[in-house]
Amino acid sequence: MCGIMGYVGPREAAPVLLDGLRRLEYRGYDSAGIAVANGAISVRKAEGKIDRLGALLEAAPLAGTAGIGHTRWATHGEPNDVNAHPHSDPSGEFVVVHNGIIENFSRLRDELGAEGHDFASDTDSEILAHLVSRHYDGDLVAAVRLAVARAEGAYALVVMTSHEPGRIVAVRRISPLVVGLGDGETFLASDIPAVLHHTRDFLVVEDGELVVVTADGAVIETIEGEAVERDVLRVEWDAERAEKGGYDHFMLKEIYEQPAVVTETVAGRLDAEGSVWLEDVRFDDAFAAELDRIWVAACGTAYHAGLVGREIFQRILRIPTSVEYAHEMRYGDPIITGSSLTVAISQSGETADTLAAARLAAGRGSRLLALTNVVGSTLSREAADVLYTRAGPEVSVASTKAYLAMLVGQYLLALRIGRARHAVDAELAKRIGHGLHVLPGQVESVLGNEAQVAAAAESLVDADDIYFIGRGLDYAVAMEGSLKLKEISYLHSEAMPAGELKHGTLALVTRGTPVVVVITQGAVYDKTLSAVQEVKARGGRVIAVAYEDDDEILRHADTVLGIPRADDLLGPVCAVVPLQLLAYHVAKLRGHDIDQPRNLAKSVTVE
Ligand code: M6R
Repeated sequence: MCGIMGYVGPREAAPVLLDGLRRLEYRGYDSAGIAVANGAISVRKAEGKIDRLGALLEAAPLAGTAGIGHTRWATHGEPNDVNAHPHSDPSGEFVVVHNGIIENFSRLRDELGAEGHDFASDTDSEILAHLVSRHYDGDLVAAVRLAVARAEGAYALVVMTSHEPGRIVAVRRISPLVVGLGDGETFLASDIPAVLHHTRDFLVVEDGELVVVTADGAVIETIEGEAVERDVLRVEWDAERAEKGGYDHFMLKEIYEQPAVVTETVAGRLDAEGSVWLEDVRFDDAFAAELDRIWVAACGTAYHAGLVGREIFQRILRIPTSVEYAHEMRYGDPIITGSSLTVAISQSGETADTLAAARLAAGRGSRLLALTNVVGSTLSREAADVLYTRAGPEVSVASTKAYLAMLVGQYLLALRIGRARHAVDAELAKRIGHGLHVLPGQVESVLGNEAQVAAAAESLVDADDIYFIGRGLDYAVAMEGSLKLKEISYLHSEAMPAGELKHGTLALVTRGTPVVVVITQGAVYDKTLSAVQEVKARGGRVIAVAYEDDDEILRHADTVLGIPRADDLLGPVCAVVPLQLLAYHVAKLRGHDIDQPRNLAKSVTVE
């Protein structure tokens, strides 16, 4: 995800900006750039690592004490020098850096094009520089307001003009933005750690706000112009904690990033009617209509995301779908015939087994689609189609936000294929579309119940074995919940379809045995409840993840972790969040190295 920097003060801006951008590197990026005002505005930008930008600045330094900077993670337009930020209007008097996605970019570009605007880049962001300059009439704040009134989507936008020296204007809609208050100098950044070595005093810019930054400080208003009083946030974190955004562990930080990850993954791809536009999914409607089989190849958490995908593809599209462990598929001689799509799912895009299975499927004539989080990864380069999950870099070995983004990616893909083959009518598209649009708020509300999950974790700390059960989509989520727990708590856990319990594992359930049940699917609710009763009859202890308005489960489970009611098709997305938190808190209580569990690596690039 892109990173933003801004500076106004007595120092030379370029080194301050460059240093801040380096501290935002962890967000991931493919190019970087800065603009500095010194009378006129000058820009330096380059594809690749920040060192390339550093070399450019050494060869052609920029003098000036106000500037903006950016690290770009490509969404519209390939990573190259021209698409790197900052972007200018044709006069070069207005520059912008932008984090987020302008959803109505094509419409705005056509409109400005018809007025004679020429664009240098393929980005959505450049439009914003043109819009600001078009509306400028001696007041940058007014021009920014008019510009963003036209833009739909998510953004943190920072604007500077040579007409108003020593002043930067920024707005936030969804994408993060903070102001660092120094002594006679002021900073802007996507994240606190970028400027924490300069100041510990911050103003957090909230959604829907505009901020005017000068060397003397910052004034915040709503985008509509109402005054805002914002308390200064004094940040006492040490450097290590700062890197984790104030959380104790990357895993927790990443769990809390999930509402934003859903928003980012959906942004610009889904409208209110459930129509989908997936920029790098290139197959045409005829291919989608003829498709007679879907293969999903993945490992670990990505495989569990695939289990959800199978349910979605089969239920929504009625296309037979096989989910294969990639390490089994690569040696399993799969019978790939007809018109098939292989969805290779991999956060890293570098997992050796997944690459091998993907190559095998493509070699046998299946069209390969990469569902991955890493732009430019091997998998994305080899696939005919790519669906990027936009979760941002995931540091914790135990995957959380990447998993959630994989689920969202598969709903989008199902809509894309379903509309083309008329398997998804307007009503269903709208239903799923609505479900995805309200999802960030629902995940946010589950995160609000962390204390309750932490209390439930206390009852699991000394367990010998823990079982996870569910049916259909709930079973898929149970698999992921179980893996999370074993990865970081080192407790033995096992997941199975709820109906399978009585065929063997029930022999292991005795007084006090913990069983976690995921129970959201209305069609099989009573069946899952029977399994709960089987557990209770043997004295087992049931922790249920269920809709918060489900009164029935309260009569059977020992503990209920509630999630907001959702369309059953989307239920699993929220249901996984309490399970992630449960694993986290059990591991924390047991004193483990949560972000780097023993014996495990983030990316398994060997067989
Ligand atoms: O990068 P990938 O998604 O291909 O990685 C696959 C698995 O190695 C990964 O999901 C692993 O299971 C994680 N540690 C799960 O938390």
